[in-house]
Amino acid sequence: MSTTLPPSSGPAADAPPDAPGGRLAPWGADPYANALRTGRGPLFLRRGDGWLLPLDVERWCSRAGAADLSALHRCEGPVLDVGCGPGRLVAELTALGHRALGIDVSEAAVARTRRLGGSALLRSVFDPLPGEGRWGTVLLVDGNIGIGGDPDALLHRTAQLLGTGGLLIAETAPLDLDERVQVRLDDGRPAPEAAAAPGSEPAAALFPWARLGTEALLRYARACGWRTVDQWSAEGRPFVSLRRPRPVLERNARTRSQSADSANSAPVISSQLPR
Ligand SMILES: C[S@@+](CC[C@H](N)C(=O)[O-])C[C@H]1O[C@@H](n2cnc3c(N)ncnc32)[C@H](O)[C@@H]1O
Repeated sequence: MSTTLPPSSGPAADAPPDAPGGRLAPWGADPYANALRTGRGPLFLRRGDGWLLPLDVERWCSRAGAADLSALHRCEGPVLDVGCGPGRLVAELTALGHRALGIDVSEAAVARTRRLGGSALLRSVFDPLPGEGRWGTVLLVDGNIGIGGDPDALLHRTAQLLGTGGLLIAETAPLDLDERVQVRLDDGRPAPEAAAAPGSEPAAALFPWARLGTEALLRYARACGWRTVDQWSAEGRPFVSLRRPRPVLERNARTRSQSADSANSAPVISSQLPR
């Protein structure tokens, strides 16, 4: 993904990510399914104004590479790969002995992940999911921090999925970006003239997407209590890992028990307290 989209004028306002039409249709449609079937592009995210963001279908359909492995070796506990695509990461994790599940809204992606020997479900990240609140690591790789076009909402959802102390590993854009855009999938072929005729197939649906550089992601994450664990780059792909914020209830319970401790007991030096 190397082409820069110009900054957009405001937040994505199209179908909300949890509306069935806005969520399942675009990535479930032909251009993406065809690309996954052949293992090849061209495939782009296209903005209304014609800007194209190339999607790296060939890499997604290959085996996990060195940059992928740099992320996978940092995974802890059971791993949920959100937007797993054709499944190279789930397959590699499974081969490494991790419990791993991919979720994706594209039937072709889920089918291909399963063919590689990985477990995958046809589900949106915003749907009810197995193991909510118990995953050790959530992966948002290959630009998937853009899912839903609202990074705050996706970070919030990810925090719900992770267990206490869980880890989010996210790949960011290799540029200083913070943009929310309306895009559609495009295979680069000129639209047939008939497509403009009344009663013809409608153009692929627009959907909201976001692109974030590392600084922007860390800004969003810090604002809702995530703690940065690591930042690195491999084969030109930047990654960050973040620890889940403690939910408000957990924080309140801890504060209450700490004040009860200090009110009721003799002073305790901090190294004696459980971390
Ligand atoms: C940029 S591609 C990333 C591909 C993938 N990581 C790979 O290894 O091939 C985005 C992926 O996210 C999926 N996706 C989009 N919206 C989603 C949602 N709400 N929940 C789960 N997956 C979604 C798409 O179907 C697509 O496979």
